[in-house]
Amino acid sequence: MATKPTTIIEAFQRAGQGQVFAFYSRIDAAAQQRLLSDAAEIDLAEIARLNATLLAPSSSSPGLGPSPGPGSSPSPTPAVNLDALTPAPYEPLPENGGNPADWARAKTAGEAALRAGRVAAFTVAGGQGTRLGYNGPKGTYPVTPLKQKTLFQVFAEKIRAAGLRYGRPLHWFIMTSHANHDATETFFKTHAHFGLDPARVHLFRQGRMPAVDLNGKILLETTDHIAMSPDGHGGSLRALARSGALDLMDREGIDTLSYFQVDNPLVRGIDPAFIGWHLLRHSEMSSKMIPKAYAAEKVGHFCLQNGRLVVVEYSDLPKALQDETDPATGRLRYIAGSIAIHILDTKFIRRIAAGGAGLALPFHRADKKIPTVDAAGAPLKPEKPNGVKFEMFVFDAVPFAKNALVIETRRADDFSPVKNAEGLDSPQTCREDQLRQFARWLKTNGAALATDTTGLPSIAVEVSPLFGYDEDSFADSWKKLNPKPALTERLYLE
Ligand code: UTP
Repeated sequence: MATKPTTIIEAFQRAGQGQVFAFYSRIDAAAQQRLLSDAAEIDLAEIARLNATLLAPSSSSPGLGPSPGPGSSPSPTPAVNLDALTPAPYEPLPENGGNPADWARAKTAGEAALRAGRVAAFTVAGGQGTRLGYNGPKGTYPVTPLKQKTLFQVFAEKIRAAGLRYGRPLHWFIMTSHANHDATETFFKTHAHFGLDPARVHLFRQGRMPAVDLNGKILLETTDHIAMSPDGHGGSLRALARSGALDLMDREGIDTLSYFQVDNPLVRGIDPAFIGWHLLRHSEMSSKMIPKAYAAEKVGHFCLQNGRLVVVEYSDLPKALQDETDPATGRLRYIAGSIAIHILDTKFIRRIAAGGAGLALPFHRADKKIPTVDAAGAPLKPEKPNGVKFEMFVFDAVPFAKNALVIETRRADDFSPVKNAEGLDSPQTCREDQLRQFARWLKTNGAALATDTTGLPSIAVEVSPLFGYDEDSFADSWKKLNPKPALTERLYLE
């Protein structure tokens, strides 16, 4: 994009987006610069394409992109395509019929990759966290039951512990947004990177997209700022390329990226069996699934479509399909729920980030209340959705991946996100799930801890990830602990 003001302004006028500069002559020089700098980030041709496809009258529902491949259209895809959909196959856990020897082989392969330094952790932390309503980067939200460790501290300690276990400190990539980048950076500095080598913690910003009104006109947030928002977790793939993170990985001999979200402290971000499955199957993108708890559970569904693995959002899968059961077992047919935990091959990320015909991730539309300005430039807080944000979703990369793989995991070991302030997926449910996990580890290793029928312990306990961050590491530390501690209220193992 050219930097001369007149060139930028003329380009916007030619694209029918001249309203962005409606107040330009009335704002001071610094404000003009701010507006021009926002404008320079925008790919007007991309916005025109999105307007033509996602804002067309026939495409009022969010787009789903499960049908790429030969002969398919490049991004964006206008409508949900449910043709020839069937439930996806997955590798079941040994206790559910999986082959224990295969799982053991996968774990060994994953451990070898970790020892060889081929794996890095990747957290997407650029979301706005509106549902939680917390004022600050979500990763700085305190979550653990006793010590109130923040999400970032939990992940940092897990990553540090895994590095020690495998004799190779891991690199950790964290995607931030324009809005939370500085606060995130300050947070890590203030906490001395939680004992990690700062040279191995890499923060980078994700891209932004402008919001448009319902007629496709780019909205102003103020007279000197365009209404811009993060481009979705799917934006992480191109941000990894643009930021130089992929080059760094190449230099460090990293070819395998373990992707997880900032809001899920239970996640086994470094899971040798998962890594091993991915590597042994030569998969370019692997995913964990949990069996859905009930038909209407709000998770994406792993499905097959024309031989390709796809993820269909819960809002896009018709209720009749969600409710379908297998006559032989009585289980839901579309059972495989996506929990946003993936392993990605770095060459695959580069390919997707480069885009090109039939390879780019589609954008989805989300209708939102977008604060803007009125004709006089005064702030306007809409009561109902007045515009559209465009976002990419990382799971839309799945259909492009060779040998895409899904493995089963236990919900209790991997998934308890903090999404809402109260109720489902809230700090309270997450705290209880952590307590259950700590109690389970203790009981499995012989501690006589009383729990209720849901597995919740009668006392509050906390296990530092540096003591144990998964079943194996906990068992090893517990074995060495002599004498064993008394199981009393506020027991903290570190
Ligand atoms: P969510 O879909 O839960 O969105 O993100 P959110 O923005 O965090 O929260 P709400 O919907 O406003 O309440 C899932 C994960 O994807 C990351 C989030 O930080 C979280 O880890 N994410 C989401 C990004 O990194 N960038 C985005 O643009 C969107």
